[in-house]
Amino acid sequence: MTNPKFPSEETVKRVDALRVKINRHNHLYYVLAKPDIGDREYDALYRELEELEEKHPELKSADSPTTRVGGAPLTEFQNITYAVPMMSLSNTYSKDELRQFDKRITGILEESPFTYILEPKIDGVAISLRYEHGLLTTASTRGDGKTGDDITNNIRTIRSIPLRLTTDSPPALLEVRGEAYMTKKGFAQLNLTRQENGQDAFANPRNATAGSLKLLDSKLVAERPLDAILYAVAEHNGISFATQEELLKTLSSMGFKTAPKYWKNGDISQIIESLDELDSLRHDFDFETDGGVIKVDERALYGTLGSTAKSPRWAVAYKYEPEQAETKINSISIQVGRTGVLTPVAELEPVLLAGSTVSRATLHNADEIDRKDIRTGDSVIIEKAGEIIPAVIKVITSARSGNEQPFVMPDKCPICGSTTLKPEDEVATRCINLQCPAQIKSWIKHFAARGAMDVDGLGDSLIEQLVDRKLIKNPSDLYSLKVVDVENLERMAEKSANNLIDGIDASRKRDLWRLLLGLGIRHVGSKSAQTLEEHFADIDKLASSTVEGLEELPDIGPIVAESITEFFKNENNQNIITKLKKAEVNVSRLGDMTNIDGAFSGQTFVLTGSLSTMTRDEAAEKIRAQGGKTSSSVSKKTSYLVAGESAGSKLAKAEKLGVNILTEEEFLNLTNS
Ligand code: IVH
Repeated sequence: MTNPKFPSEETVKRVDALRVKINRHNHLYYVLAKPDIGDREYDALYRELEELEEKHPELKSADSPTTRVGGAPLTEFQNITYAVPMMSLSNTYSKDELRQFDKRITGILEESPFTYILEPKIDGVAISLRYEHGLLTTASTRGDGKTGDDITNNIRTIRSIPLRLTTDSPPALLEVRGEAYMTKKGFAQLNLTRQENGQDAFANPRNATAGSLKLLDSKLVAERPLDAILYAVAEHNGISFATQEELLKTLSSMGFKTAPKYWKNGDISQIIESLDELDSLRHDFDFETDGGVIKVDERALYGTLGSTAKSPRWAVAYKYEPEQAETKINSISIQVGRTGVLTPVAELEPVLLAGSTVSRATLHNADEIDRKDIRTGDSVIIEKAGEIIPAVIKVITSARSGNEQPFVMPDKCPICGSTTLKPEDEVATRCINLQCPAQIKSWIKHFAARGAMDVDGLGDSLIEQLVDRKLIKNPSDLYSLKVVDVENLERMAEKSANNLIDGIDASRKRDLWRLLLGLGIRHVGSKSAQTLEEHFADIDKLASSTVEGLEELPDIGPIVAESITEFFKNENNQNIITKLKKAEVNVSRLGDMTNIDGAFSGQTFVLTGSLSTMTRDEAAEKIRAQGGKTSSSVSKKTSYLVAGESAGSKLAKAEKLGVNILTEEEFLNLTNS
C-alpha cells in the first residue's frame, strides 16, 4: 500500500521543477533585470511550492527558493577563518600614481605581455561565499581579513545570490568574493520608511548594508533591499581561470551578478581614459561606485607580482573625489508624511551636483540639524550619497555673517495647525492629528497606488482636491463618491468623472492583500500583506489574531505583529473597515470565494493571450463567480485553457497535454449557458 503522506513521484518531480523554475525567474528578475513573467504568475509558482513543502516537510531543502525569507534569529555570529585572506587594495586619487603603478608592473614583468582590466569599484561591504559541490555552504564578512563573521543566514536572503550554482558540473569547491550593497532606490525608500517610523536614517547605502548584514534576525534582513556583485575567487578546487575576464564570465554563467561593464587594454593611458567613461556612466548604475579597480588580467602573472602584507601588487583602486557642491540654505521647510512625521527639508540656492540641478536637501530630523548646527542662511556642503534628495554634509561656519537663524521644530503642524509631539524614544516629531490633510493625502495616495488597490483615474492632484474639499478623509470614503461630487473638480469633465467612478468601482474586487497593503498598517509591505492573506481567509480573522499568533507566520516579526494588532484595535480603523465592507469592497481571500455549487465548480482555467471583450481579470471573475478556479500555469490538471489573441507557449503546452482549449467566444458561451 502506498502511504498517502509520502510524496508521490509526481510530487517530488513537481517540487523539483518548481524550484528550477522559480530559481530561473529569480535569476531573470534579480540578476538580469529581464523578468519574463508577471508578479501574479511568479507568486502562484511560489505559493504552490510553499504549499507542497508544507505538506511534505521531508522535501524541504537548503537550496529551495522558499528559504530566502530568513530563519530563526541568532544570539551571535560564529567566526570563519580564511585559508586565503581577504585582502584590500591600495587606493589612489591620482592618475599619476596609476602611471607609476604601470611602471612598477612592467618593471617586474619585463618582457611578459599582459593586459589590464578595469572594473567599477563597488562601494559596498566585502563578502565571501563558499560553494561546495555547487551548494552555498557559508557566507561571511571580511572581519580583519583573516577571520570574519558567519552571516550565511543573512546572505541567503539576497535574491541575486544563487543558493546553488547554475552549472551541470559544479566544482568541488569555489569561494567567491565580492561586494554586498543596497540599491540606491532601495536605500532611499528604506530611509523614508525609517523616518516615518521614527528611526534614525542611515547615512549612506554602505552603512545601511553593513547595518543590515549585522542584524541577528535574518527575517529583518530579508526585507532590506540588498544585492551583491561578485568579482573574485579565493579557494577553489576543480575549476580554474586563466584571466580575470574569464573569471567574470564564469561567475556570470554560474548565476552571479557581475558588474555591468568592464574595459580591457594593455595601455595604461587607454585605461585612464576608460576611467573617465566609467565616471560618466556610474551615476546610472543602481549601486554606488566610488572608483575603478584596475587589475592585471592574466592570472598566471599574479604569483610573480606577489603582494604586500595588505594588498596584491597586481591591482590598484582609483577613487573619484566624492561629489560635493557648495550652496546656501534659503529656508527650511517641513514635509508631513503618511504617519504624520515632520521632516525638515533645506530649500537651497539651486546648484549643479553629479549631473543634475539640486534645490532641496533632506535634513532628516531635528537631532541631525542640532548635531550639524544647521541654520537658515548658512553656506553648506551638500553631497549625493545614493539618495534621490542629497544630504547636507557640513556647514561652512567661517562663511557665517551672524544673520543665520537657528532651526526650531514647530510645535504646531504646518499643514493643519495641530500640536506636534516627539516621543522620548523616537527621533521623529509627529503631527498628532490623524485627520491632518497631509496625512490623509499621503494615505489615500498609498491606498490608490498601482502596487496596492490600483485605483485607475485617481491621480495625485485629484486626491489633493478631494481632501482639500473635505470630500474624503479616509480610503473608505472613496467608495461613496458619485459622479456629481467629482465632475466639477479642476481638470475634470463628465467623461473623466465617470472613468474615475468606474476605476474606484473596479478596485472593490482587488485581492485581500492589496487592501491590507493599501490600509497602510505600519511595517506591512506587499510581501507581508501576501503572507497575511495566505494565513487569514478574511479581514475579520486577521483583526482577531494575536501578536503571538502573528509572530509564528513566515515573514512577520514582533514589530510587525504588534503594529498589526494595534491597527485593528483602533476604533477609527474599525469604522473604516465596517464602511469598506458596507461598500462591498472585497475583504476576503479571493480563492475562497468560490461558489461550490457553480457550473465550474472543481474546474481549473488558465487564461492566456489578450481577450477582446473583457480583461483577463474580468474573465477570472466570471470563472470564480461560477465556482471555478484560475491558475497561471498549464498542467495535466488544467480543465480549460482560454486562448485569446496571440496566445503563445501556454497554448502550445495545453495542446501537448491534451487540455481542452476554448476560444474567447466559446468561453463566453460557456459562461452564459
Ligand atoms: S578586487 C585582493 N574588485 O574595494 C583584493 N575589489 O578598497 C581583491 N571592491 O577590498 C579585490 N569593487 O572590498 C576588487 N571590482 C572590484 C571591487 C573591489 C569593490 C572592494 C573590495 C576591496 C576594496 C578595496
